Amino acid sequence: MLIKTYSRRIKMFSKKFPEGIISAKQFDREDVEYILSKGREMISIKNSDLLKGKILATLFFEPSTRTRLSFESSMYRLGGNVIGFHSGDVSSIKKGESIADTIRTVENYSDCIVIRHPLEGAARMAAKFAKIPVINAGSGSGEHPTQALLDLLTITEEVGALDGLNIGIMGDLKYGRTVHSLAILLSNFNVNTYFISPVELKMRNRDKDSLRQRQMNYKEITNFRKILNTLDVLYMTRIQKERFIDLEEYEKVKDFYIFRENDLNDTKDNFRLLHPLPRITEISPDVDKSNKSIYFKQTSFGIPMRKAILAELMQD
Ligand code: NCD
Repeated sequence: MLIKTYSRRIKMFSKKFPEGIISAKQFDREDVEYILSKGREMISIKNSDLLKGKILATLFFEPSTRTRLSFESSMYRLGGNVIGFHSGDVSSIKKGESIADTIRTVENYSDCIVIRHPLEGAARMAAKFAKIPVINAGSGSGEHPTQALLDLLTITEEVGALDGLNIGIMGDLKYGRTVHSLAILLSNFNVNTYFISPVELKMRNRDKDSLRQRQMNYKEITNFRKILNTLDVLYMTRIQKERFIDLEEYEKVKDFYIFRENDLNDTKDNFRLLHPLPRITEISPDVDKSNKSIYFKQTSFGIPMRKAILAELMQD
């Protein structure tokens, strides 16, 4: 019954975003609220045949655990099938084939393409060549819009409505693609945002310019302990070692932030700690057992959110 209700709803995204989901910039507030409501509906629909007969292609040119597996699991849970590869080394790109030619081929074998690639423009370029929708599952240091959507689903389910929240986004704001997409999505809401980073890893000017254009209310700080007691949410990120040109620079900042168990004492009762994962050293393992640490629960929201996205783009 639930499934029937779900499938009868108007599919906004396949009409509005025929190219797929490339950037968080595509989404206005209404779009975010719409897809979050679809994600919420999917929480109670474990398995269905909504995408029976459909094929998803997952083209991963960079390592992934959560993103690829949750896309694939979501597709199977909706009755669909998956093809793809999880390393550039095993596809014909290794032989010198261009992304454009790869896409022109894979579109004949599937109904939607999920791509992760080290180049910032890769997903956009793939969408330009594809006649089927493309989903950006991480484009270099650029964006990772579906992660940001699942982050918002986590916050709205576990903390509450976004308007009025104090949210800290901390770590590698220069190279971290999840935080770029998250900040863009949050710019649609009345959130007080703190960008917390070492000076070397501040949000890039071009990203800040576009957030200012979107009238986002944010402050940049370095010491998270100064504002920790005011935060509802702290979204931590890993320092993105693989993006550094000079590894000595990475060594200087790699342990800049370590969130420790005693930091929890300074947080509000309803404070929640998020992280897209993988976590390296930035959250001490003894923080995991606190009910304020919800980064593993956050991974579970990848399924309903991605099921909703896939259904939007592929459902007949
Ligand atoms: C992130 C990514 O790949 O950008 N991981 C993820 O998708 N959950 C974060 C990271 O690698 O630091």
